[in-house]
Order: sequence, then structure tokens, then C-alpha cells
Amino acid sequence: MTSLFSSSSWALSKIPDLSRKVFLVTGGSAGIGFGIVTQLLKNNPAKILILSEKEHHADLAIDELQKYGDASRVEWVKCNLQDLKEVDRVAKGLKEKEKRLDCLVSNAGIGVGVYNLSRDGIDTHFQVNLLSQMHLILTLLPNIIETAKENAEARIVLQSSDLHRMAPSSVKFASLDEINTDIGPAYLYNRSKLAQILFVRALVRRLQDGSLGTCQTSNVYANATHPGAVSTKQQEQAEEAYGVAGKIAVAAARPFMKDPITDGPLPALFAATSPDVPKENINGQYIVPPGKVTDPSSQAQDDEMGERLWSLSEQLLKEKLQ
Ligand SMILES: NC(=O)c1ccc[n+]([C@@H]2O[C@H](COP(=O)([O-])OP(=O)(O)OC[C@H]3O[C@@H](n4cnc5c(N)ncnc54)[C@H](OP(=O)(O)O)[C@@H]3O)[C@@H](O)[C@H]2O)c1
Repeated sequence: MTSLFSSSSWALSKIPDLSRKVFLVTGGSAGIGFGIVTQLLKNNPAKILILSEKEHHADLAIDELQKYGDASRVEWVKCNLQDLKEVDRVAKGLKEKEKRLDCLVSNAGIGVGVYNLSRDGIDTHFQVNLLSQMHLILTLLPNIIETAKENAEARIVLQSSDLHRMAPSSVKFASLDEINTDIGPAYLYNRSKLAQILFVRALVRRLQDGSLGTCQTSNVYANATHPGAVSTKQQEQAEEAYGVAGKIAVAAARPFMKDPITDGPLPALFAATSPDVPKENINGQYIVPPGKVTDPSSQAQDDEMGERLWSLSEQLLKEKLQ
């Protein structure tokens, strides 16, 4: 169902004052994630945590953030999303330390790129883009729910992509063997972006029926977003995967891509900060630029597939973290 509500007029100037709010932005060290952090910082948050892997990116990002606001409010959390035990350790540490968490923006991602296995022996697209961040979200969920109780609401945002519409029709999320079949750089990416939307919908169902071992919660808003085509380093992964053809395609497309500071962050910022989200009860939805709720693909609305994805992901987390 396409929501009647759509904010086609959402803009950076509409981000409200973020006093006292605490944000965690995965992949906030580069590209669109960095853009999200700059715009949050301009609006007076209490704290922004950036979770990423490469120290030199994080150092550069925090240096650059001084242009946008009080960079002492930004902390870097080192974590390699290709390593589930590290994710588990970092997530549990954050759970202890960050009792208040108003919004977790799950933005870190691997782009269209070659097939690789993570340290856990799982396709890196699936692990980085979904599984590790699912574990991060579920570990921090009690803090997010508590924050929502004390402060009216809290949010979760997953940075997906319209390329989810081009996931293979054969996808089932039935087994690790299926996940670990090299279906090519584009399909690997598109499938992981489909998984993010299915996950958001399954998460909202559980928050609303209380089946996560938490009380029923209707004031945690979880949504998936599509930033548009944005010029970042992510396109270099496609160049590597497709060689000369990839370089030509990226060079032709780049002039038409959006800016990662002023345009790319808009849908995620809408989902993370707009007062319209609680007002219009935008929950379990898919949001495209600038801040418009729209239907994802029919595959992304296949809640049976979403339940299979959830079961497989839970099983993998259990096996890999025991
Ligand atoms: N760019 C686009 O046109 C576009 C379009 C649709 C959707 N998206 C989505 O938007 C999100 C951001 O994309 P982007 O273009 O900004 O990408 P990017 O410039 O390549 O930045 C990716 C971010 O993810 C982090 N990351 C990657 N692998 C990681 C790992 N193993 N552990 C921890 N952090 C990791 C990187 O951290 P390090 O600094 O440690 O490398 C970096 O901060 C992605 O989810 C992407 O799929 C992008």
C-alpha cells in the first residue's frame, strides 16, 4: 500500500533541533553516512557515534566535521562488520555504555562488487549489509525501546537501495548455501538491499506484537530508505568488479549523481529526524528522496520470505556466535 502521506518538500532546513538526542550512524566515516553525520551535527545533538572499520577514514571524518559543528560530540567506534564476534563484542559494549539511543542509522554497506567470504564464511554483501547490522540492532534494541519510553519515541533506519527491485527472482533466503552462491556483483548487492527491507518489516511486526521478548512497542519507528544515486567511493567497487566496462559506466553516470553531503542523506535524515514520522505513523515503510513513502517491490512485500530471512539470520547468528 502506498501511503497517502508523502513529504516531497522535505529539506535539510526542516531537520528539527536535536538537543539531548544520541545517534549511532554505521558507515558514518565516508560517503552518505558522513553526509548524514554532518547534517545531524549542525542541529545540536548530544552525541553522534560513528561505527566503521578504517581508522584513517574515521580520523579524516572527525577532522572534517569541525566545519559543521562541535566535533567533540562525535565518537568513533571501531568495528569490522565482516567479523561477527567483533560485532557482538562492540554491540554489547555499546549496550552497556550508551543507555540512551534515540536513533540507529544502519547505513554502512558494501556496494555492487565482487563475491567474497567474510571471516565467518558468509557472503560479505549479506553479512555487512544485513546480518551484522541486524545483530547490532537487536543487541541495542532494549536501549532504543527504553529511550522511546522515556522520550516519546526512538528510531531505526536501514539504508537500502532502489536496486532491491532488481534482486534475482529466484531468491528465497532458504539456506547458507543459497547465500554463498556467487550470483554476480549486482545481484549480490541487490539481494542484500532486498533483505534490509524485508528485515525492517519483520522487525516492525515483532515490535508491534511483542514477540522479541520485549513489551509491545509502537513508538519505535523502523524504516528503510533509498538515498538515490550518490557520488561516493562505493562506485569504485563496481569499477573493480566490471573492469573497463565498469569504469566507463561509472564515468558516464557520475556527473548525474547526487552530492553525498547535501542530497544523498535526505531520506535517511527524514526517517531519523522528521516529526512527520511519528505524526503520520510512518513505520515499516520504504522512503525515497527527498522523504517520500512509497511501495517497495512485491518481493520486498513478501512477508513469508521476510520470515524465512529472519529464521535463517537467527540461525546463522546462533551458529557463528556460539
Ligand atoms: N552511493 C549510492 O549511490 C548508493 C545508492 C543506494 C544505496 N546506497 C547505500 O548507502 C550506504 C552508504 O553508501 P556509500 O555510497 O556512502 O558508501 P561508501 O562511501 O563506500 O561508505 C561505506 C561506509 O560503510 C563502511 N563499511 C564498509 N564495510 C564495512 C565493514 N566491514 N565494517 C564497518 N564498516 C564498513 C565504511 O567504513 P570504512 O570507513 O571503515 O571503510 C564507510 O563508512 C550503503 O548501504 C549503500 O548500499 C548507496
